[in-house]
Amino acid sequence: MDVISVIRTKRDRGRLTDEQIDWVIDAYTRGEVADEQMSALAMAILLNGMDRREIARWTAAMINSGERMDFSALSRPTADKHSTGGVGDKITLPLAPLVAACGAAVPQLSGRGLGHTGGTLDKLESIPGWRALLTNEEMLAVLDGTGSVICAAGDGLAPADRKLYALRDVTGTVEAIPLIASSIMSKKIAEGTGSLVLDVKVGTGAFMKSLDDARELAETMVGLGTDHGVRTVALLTDMSTPLGRTAGNALEVRESVEVLAGGGPADVVELTLALAREMLDAAGLPDADPAEALADGSAMDVWRRMITAQGGDPDAPLPVSREQHHIPAPATGVLTRLDAYDIGVAAWRLGAGRARKEDPVQAAAGVELHAKPGDHVTQGEPLLTLHTDTPDRFPYALESLTSAYDIAPLDTPFTAAPIVRERIAPAT
Ligand code: URA
Repeated sequence: MDVISVIRTKRDRGRLTDEQIDWVIDAYTRGEVADEQMSALAMAILLNGMDRREIARWTAAMINSGERMDFSALSRPTADKHSTGGVGDKITLPLAPLVAACGAAVPQLSGRGLGHTGGTLDKLESIPGWRALLTNEEMLAVLDGTGSVICAAGDGLAPADRKLYALRDVTGTVEAIPLIASSIMSKKIAEGTGSLVLDVKVGTGAFMKSLDDARELAETMVGLGTDHGVRTVALLTDMSTPLGRTAGNALEVRESVEVLAGGGPADVVELTLALAREMLDAAGLPDADPAEALADGSAMDVWRRMITAQGGDPDAPLPVSREQHHIPAPATGVLTRLDAYDIGVAAWRLGAGRARKEDPVQAAAGVELHAKPGDHVTQGEPLLTLHTDTPDRFPYALESLTSAYDIAPLDTPFTAAPIVRERIAPAT
């Protein structure tokens, strides 16, 4: 097999054979196919697509590049969730302990933020002592002992994807639906969960800006999961405005704890409960009541045990930024738009995110939202508060917010977009 003929096949809009796919993924993982050759192939795939058979084979080849985990020894059914990434998306934090409190085992292998979207591990690392890196044995012990674990995926899981994702990130080939779907699903299938709920974000703050693209991605992933025996459903959810009232690591942990304590912003609670119900249903526990587990404190109990089991102190004060800058509302009226992407970029520039994967993040940096679309705002009252430890970042963050919001006269009718826009289940 030679790599140039594989690249030419896709360049000329052909279909890759099973043998070509198996060979190219394996040879790339072993270093026999060079980065520049894989970049050319990734770009040809971005431009010319892959059909369902090719995507399924590509995913299987990435799964086979590494180890598969096995949770079959656990006494509870496993349920996992994956979000395609958004701004203020802290849902994994309350969701994992909540679903565990309702009887499922939740192995949540998560990532770090890159670009304008935050990463679950970065958020949890703002809790003093908390450790993201666990051995497989430690991970299983936390999962078995508390019902949920949130940790970094080990190097052994889909190593082909690890290498390819880093390459796509620097070659403008992240946005190809076949490559996104196979990247996400290869890791989730290799992880060994019995059921999976996908939160596919749509809107300015998401990878998928249009509902049609989000639907295509969701259908592709649901098909891949189902073909591999994982009960998979997807919700298409709104990411035109940030989730909740915070974007930033420690700020989002604080808000998640509020949700676990029975409070928190309505949109975060609504989405957490919608995803919890889907996860419990897919795990074969349709009668469990997640709203009750939030109200009676049992989800909070699991959270505290899970954080403690990973070295964290759930009672330790969270870091607070050294400097804050308030942005007042420029007019009195109704906030009709608060853009997720712009807020995500501001939080990133304040130090909550990283430009390169080896960069450190500031635990306390981020943006606090004092109003959400539909709220009335008063001229001169704080609309946003920016947090950072390094105030020289304020001007650069402010630049990203110059057209981040719209305020209309008080009598302007306003209807908020629904959070859950569509549900995609396997074709029967
Ligand atoms: N997340 C992933 O894991 N892979 C992608 O390709 C995009 C988002």
